[in-house]
Amino acid sequence: METHFRFLFLLLFSLLPSALSQFNISGVLIDCSVNTSYTDNQGLRWLPDSQFITSGVSKNVSTPGLFTTFSTLRSFPYNATRPRKFCYTLSSYRDLNSSRVKRYLIRTSYFFDGPGLPPVFDLIVDGNLWTMVNTTADYLAGSASYYEVVFPARGKTINVCLAGNPNYTKGDPFISSLEFIMLDDSVYNATDFGKKAMGLIARSKFGASGETERYPNDRYNRYWQPFPDQIHAKTSTHNITSSAFWNLPPLDVFNTAIVADKGNPLAFQWPQQVSLQRSTYYVALYFADTLPKSSRNLSVYINGYQFYDGAVTSDGVVVFSPEWILSGLTTLTLAPGSNLNLPPLINAGEVFGLLDLQNLTITRDGMDFFSVMIGWCGIKLYGRL
Ligand SMILES: *[C@@H]1O[C@H](CO)[C@@H](O)[C@H](O)[C@H]1NC(C)=O
Ligand SMILES: *[C@@H]1O[C@H](CO)[C@@H](O)[C@H](O)[C@H]1NC(C)=O
Ligand SMILES: *[C@@H]1O[C@H](CO)[C@@H](O)[C@H](O)[C@H]1NC(C)=O
Ligand SMILES: *[C@@H]1O[C@H](CO)[C@@H](O)[C@H](O)[C@H]1NC(C)=O
Ligand SMILES: *[C@@H]1O[C@H](CO)[C@@H](O)[C@H](O)[C@H]1NC(C)=O
Ligand SMILES: *[C@@H]1O[C@H](CO)[C@@H](O)[C@H](O)[C@H]1NC(C)=O
Ligand SMILES: *[C@@H]1O[C@H](CO)[C@@H](O)[C@H](O)[C@H]1NC(C)=O
Ligand SMILES: *[C@@H]1O[C@H](CO)[C@@H](O)[C@H](O)[C@H]1NC(C)=O
Ligand SMILES: *[C@@H]1O[C@H](CO)[C@@H](O)[C@H](O)[C@H]1NC(C)=O
Ligand SMILES: *[C@@H]1O[C@H](CO)[C@@H](O)[C@H](O)[C@H]1NC(C)=O
Ligand SMILES: *[C@@H]1O[C@H](CO)[C@@H](O)[C@H](O)[C@H]1NC(C)=O
Repeated sequence: METHFRFLFLLLFSLLPSALSQFNISGVLIDCSVNTSYTDNQGLRWLPDSQFITSGVSKNVSTPGLFTTFSTLRSFPYNATRPRKFCYTLSSYRDLNSSRVKRYLIRTSYFFDGPGLPPVFDLIVDGNLWTMVNTTADYLAGSASYYEVVFPARGKTINVCLAGNPNYTKGDPFISSLEFIMLDDSVYNATDFGKKAMGLIARSKFGASGETERYPNDRYNRYWQPFPDQIHAKTSTHNITSSAFWNLPPLDVFNTAIVADKGNPLAFQWPQQVSLQRSTYYVALYFADTLPKSSRNLSVYINGYQFYDGAVTSDGVVVFSPEWILSGLTTLTLAPGSNLNLPPLINAGEVFGLLDLQNLTITRDGMDFFSVMIGWCGIKLYGRL
């Protein structure tokens, strides 16, 4: 017999005073190939990459009107005889008094400028194969691409490397920007970062259709992509004002929801058009009643397996499983609870693939390191930022 989860956690909201001040990012944001640091219109400080890497060639992107981070890129020569990896070395913070490893959100972003199709290559973090970078579909759709991982700092530095792979294409690996952001200890803390890292598959704000939710609303500049639904989208009639959720989601993700029709279940595919390889995944779902001082009961099923059955209040609930088995396309079903007056709803969700970490850190360049790579399917998100 198979169980579809090992642990399931439910966190009801307790009231804490809201922090009104803007949070500062701890970490570095690197805009590859710019010559000077600058602050963008969100208030984020971007540094040139010259102090983090010595190899590669700077290129200007000719497409006009791009976000500054996409208007330059660094590209690395692909050598079919001797494929190499090219690494950014990032200093990580170590709290020597704490046994907890600090973990970082690492996001690499890409916008290819031609000619031809974008090169396909590998990303390697501290010797672990993170993902294949294939931006072709996004490029053909006129979009940028990004890949995000939550990775523990196990030494004084973390290496984020691009590596050509003769099995894919012969083009030069390239990168537009690299973000390295320290997360607070409570964020995603159900994951054992001594053994695992988390690769983002989707982070969605249900019922939203506008802009991606990000910094400064999200203090770590996580991207919450709008997940529109013309029929079932609802806006909350009250604002959540305090945040005791361990994952510290931006409170704005609770302002919109997908709400089922009264008395009927609602099923939809999430993440959309992503077929997952059979494995264990971290899934967190966020709920808050759209009405003030209200509460409703509901059930949520993932591929027919019950994920949650209980109450959702105006103050909010997060339900997460650090190890949930998924395979293929994923269907989320919102089913009414015993109180049929208020239909079920959902506000936001995150799903990550779990990446097993190797003990061995590969420091050498060259073909050899490929022999200890571990398999992991690509994770990709769409949208020009
Ligand atoms: C963020 O940085 C600014 C400038 O250094 C500082 O004034 C402010 O207090 C910081 N905010 C927080 C929440 O730490
Ligand atoms: C940065 O400076 C280098 C050397 O001076 C130059 O080749 C490169 O084009 C400059 N890049 C930008 C984006 O100005
Ligand atoms: C990139 O653009 C900057 C100014 O926008 C220019 O100074 C620089 O020479 C360009 N670099 C290359 C490699 O074309
Ligand atoms: C590719 O690598 C081989 C072996 O190290 C070297 O002999 C050759 O010069 C390299 N080719 C280029 C274009 O750098
Ligand atoms: C570590 O603990 C010692 C003794 O409790 C304290 O003096 C020191 O400031 C702490 N260091 C850090 C980085 O918190
Ligand atoms: C290329 O594919 C072959 C066959 O699947 C595999 O043995 C080899 O390790 C792959 N090479 C790289 C660099 O991933
Ligand atoms: C990259 O993506 C494109 C478009 O989805 C696909 O045709 C191609 O086979 C992919 N390349 C690799 C090496 O997987
Ligand atoms: C995660 O963080 C929360 C809030 O600090 C704490 O209450 C909880 O015990 C932590 N869980 C684990 C597994 O460390
Ligand atoms: C929620 O907060 C936003 C931004 O502060 C504000 O525009 C909106 O009117 C608020 N909504 C309600 C229902 O109070
Ligand atoms: C709603 O769910 C809660 C918690 O599961 C339960 O205690 C309560 O009885 C339920 N309410 C109704 C009306 O079924
Ligand atoms: C990794 O290290 C742990 C603890 O030292 C050990 O139990 C485990 O067998 C090692 N795994 C591999 C793949 O070497």
